[in-house]
Amino acid sequence: MGQALNIALLPGDGIGPEVTDVAEAVLNLLIQRYQLPLGYTRFDWPSHAWHQAHGEMMPGDGVAQLREFDAMLLGALGDPGPLEDPSRFVLSDSVSLAPLLALRKQLDLWACERPAHWLPGAPQYLADPRAREVDMLVIRENSEGEYSGQGGRLAPGTAQEVATQVEVFTARATERLIRHAFQRARQRAAQRETPRQFKNGKHAQVCLITKRNAQPFWGDLYTDTFQRIANEFPDVDTHHELVDAACMKFVQCPWRFDVVVASNLHGDILTDLAAVLCGGPGLAPSANLNPDEPTLPALFEPVHGSAPDIAGQNLADPRATLMSLAMLLENLAHHHPAIGSAAQHLHDLIQADLAREANGDPFSGTRETGQRLCQWLAA
Ligand code: NAD
Ligand code: IPM
Ligand code: MN
Repeated sequence: MGQALNIALLPGDGIGPEVTDVAEAVLNLLIQRYQLPLGYTRFDWPSHAWHQAHGEMMPGDGVAQLREFDAMLLGALGDPGPLEDPSRFVLSDSVSLAPLLALRKQLDLWACERPAHWLPGAPQYLADPRAREVDMLVIRENSEGEYSGQGGRLAPGTAQEVATQVEVFTARATERLIRHAFQRARQRAAQRETPRQFKNGKHAQVCLITKRNAQPFWGDLYTDTFQRIANEFPDVDTHHELVDAACMKFVQCPWRFDVVVASNLHGDILTDLAAVLCGGPGLAPSANLNPDEPTLPALFEPVHGSAPDIAGQNLADPRATLMSLAMLLENLAHHHPAIGSAAQHLHDLIQADLAREANGDPFSGTRETGQRLCQWLAA
């Protein structure tokens, strides 16, 4: 079978290379076992190490090079750690995270999907047993909003300094985001074995998040668009929460949410919270996609960052990255059925590994988790 598809592995910084090592080993075994028509290239950029050697996080044509791939898996970018090493080479986040934002924007990966599904065996931080029913999909606007990158500092460093950070919300980006959220809600309901119940006997829901009481301009654009598109989806229940109340309800009753659609920044914050509802940062995957342009390479990455506090200590849970790899394979499954089988197998392995923890075996380390999964896969 020829090598039809190419994946770019971007380990990045901090725990990124540690969790990517595990993902690479698992990917290799999946390719062999399922004879997948897949190959991959591991890049040493974007990263602090590349910047130290070359004076930039990635080559000038980095995005153009990555555009040629069929999908990307990113470990993490940011402070490389460990924090105890005061002489480590650290850049400001605005420099080190710029490649991630550039990839999202320049490849027009406008939807960021962050599933938050509690799986048996995962740590459960909420005492209420209904916390085991958490199964939501947060869809985050990924191309504009609070991350539009416009603004500046006037008279920096003086007492007269003025900083502006402009938020930009366009009708086009709002419409495509919200329509996508409704489509995904409908799709999820159709795929569920046991229907969920929302208002008026509906089996799917979309909850819109805004801060329209204080930020009415984009809040009202989102609300009007949401109401208009909801009319096209009479089978989907609708709901709205202000972002502050949403934080409260994510803790009080997260099992009530299905699809949640939010702006770039609100979605960012809510998905760290949602990660903890499902066991912590080591168990939260994500996908940056352009649902209209499936030929553009999608970018998959754990929700977490470079975790400099635990970098280099074999403490990073690699399963958020493995779950992101499973999402990547699902995304490519339409090319070949074996890719879908490999994605399902990986998903099952992660669930089996979590079930081990339900039986009392604690998380055993980054490398040990990888070795165990690889042994199961090779068996
Ligand atoms: P973080 O997600 O890196 O870490 C937050 C906490 O979660 C830390 O205590 C860390 O030890 C823990 N944690 C994270 N991943 C874990 C894992 N796999 N297993 C176990 N524990 C894990 O967030 P932060 O500390 O706010 O940011 C650190 C750096 O990462 C910053 O430079 C930030 O800008 C960057 N960052 C990058 C991304 C990305 O590349 N996608 C995402 C978020 C933050
Ligand atoms: C994430 C991260 C990024 C974001 C940062 C690192 C720019 O927190 O992917 O969740 O805010 O989008
Ligand atoms: Mn984040």
